[in-house]
Amino acid sequence: LWLAVGIRRRQPGEPAVENGFIPYLGCALQFGANPLQFLRSRQKKYGHIFTCKIAGQYIHFLCDPFSYHSVIRQGRHLDWRKFHFATSVKAFGHDSFDPRHGHTTENLHQTFLKTLQGEALPSLIETMMGHLQDVMLRSGKLSPGKDHWEVDGIFAFCYKVMFESGYLTLFGKELGEDKCQAQQAAEKALVLNALENFKEFDKIFPALVAGLPIHVFKSAHSARENLAKTMHAEKLSKRENMSDLISMRMILNDSLSTFNDVSKARTHVALLWASQANTLPATFWSLFYMIRSPDAMKGARQELQKILEDSGLTVDPSDPTLNLTREQLDNMPVLDSIIKEAMRLSSASMNVRVAKEDFLLHMDNNEAYRIRKDDVIALYPPMLHYDPEIFEDPYEYKFDRFLDEKGQEKTTFYRNGRRLRYFNMPFGSGVTKCPGRFFAMYEIKQFLTLVLSYFEMELLDPAIKAPPLDQSRAGLGVLQPTYDVDFKYKLKSNY
Ligand code: HEM
Repeated sequence: LWLAVGIRRRQPGEPAVENGFIPYLGCALQFGANPLQFLRSRQKKYGHIFTCKIAGQYIHFLCDPFSYHSVIRQGRHLDWRKFHFATSVKAFGHDSFDPRHGHTTENLHQTFLKTLQGEALPSLIETMMGHLQDVMLRSGKLSPGKDHWEVDGIFAFCYKVMFESGYLTLFGKELGEDKCQAQQAAEKALVLNALENFKEFDKIFPALVAGLPIHVFKSAHSARENLAKTMHAEKLSKRENMSDLISMRMILNDSLSTFNDVSKARTHVALLWASQANTLPATFWSLFYMIRSPDAMKGARQELQKILEDSGLTVDPSDPTLNLTREQLDNMPVLDSIIKEAMRLSSASMNVRVAKEDFLLHMDNNEAYRIRKDDVIALYPPMLHYDPEIFEDPYEYKFDRFLDEKGQEKTTFYRNGRRLRYFNMPFGSGVTKCPGRFFAMYEIKQFLTLVLSYFEMELLDPAIKAPPLDQSRAGLGVLQPTYDVDFKYKLKSNY
């Protein structure tokens, strides 16, 4: 009978199982309502590892940070490709990247490392800095003056500035130095449409990952396809100053895959999504918390001032060509901490691996648990990020939490007197760790240095509480605010 209704019984040596009350869905609703609270209560009841049925899938939640390593070091029993490639196919509709399916021999992981890290970074940084200043001060999109305050939502502001800058940095600008007005208008419309389509599609992303077919969502479906249409090879080939990431992926799509044109274009949509979906809310939370904390603002301004003075750089909104090198950006521990602390409070990406075979999972306390083939093992970093033993007053934003006594990056965090190897995991872990994480940190830092350089900023309500996190995306990355927060800004008057 147990088998007939799809319910698992715990076998000797396995973690405790919770099947939930609803067939198929299992614990999905309780988990979805508040994942952290749900997992905490089960951890209290069952201990460091337990199994929950969520939407037809048995998931082992590993909650002991000292045992994370057994999963993160990616032993031969664990597979990451199955889950990740399948998720991307479900959401974006391209053919599979899993080499075992035979559509491509591209090693995507290698492509990402080569084009998003190391030597690829300086040019990404430089291009991004140019676009950020164009959008903020040249495009007419923000029209800030010296004498009057502009009012906007912080999320809306971040969306406008970061989406366009990030989009142009990856996908380049339409060819042609001296574009006529009509061409300029067409380029503007392209980015604006991309932003609207991205938003429409992003709304239903959690539903797609959960397995609902995109056809159910008419407008989101056409939004995704509209994005793909702008990313066909013949359209992209008319753009200049494209990132290595996209140009190399175009070459590899052509030379190593049997994807058709639509599938190829959809792989670029997947990258647009990966590059924006977390960065936008992470930028929001960083800016919001920074403006709300007078100490954070002061610390950040002093840090920036020093960098500018030491390098003899001046800031001039009528000639917005400020450029900071990678080394200068690396030398900003205060901004680094401001961003990390914002992501500690808002990131909720689940780290997932699939068991390739039956095996024994060894815990730090020398216990071992039987795991069955095809079971999923998950780490949920908010369990760490909100652990009061690791982070005192975990619900409070403290801009200097990731700074040590010398004002440099703090990397030592403890639990029960033991030093933790993993304490901050907004970018995932091990082999599936975000390959864009260095660029992501740089671009948010660049955004913050520019708004600090050019603008005075104030919250309309300085005492406003942080908006609640929208839990509908829990597990998928940085969570969005449930509503926007208004602020005002104007050009600094001391130029
Ligand atoms: C994957 C977080 C920005 C490119 C991931 C993953 C996380 C993550 C958690 C792993 C997902 C998983 O394990 O399933 C973030 C956060 C960002 C950010 C928090 C910003 C604050 C970016 C940017 C880019 C990027 C700016 C590119 C320009 C990617 C790619 C993958 C990925 C390509 C897939 C890697 C793979 O499957 O091998 N990101 N990301 N990310 N990210 Fe990011």
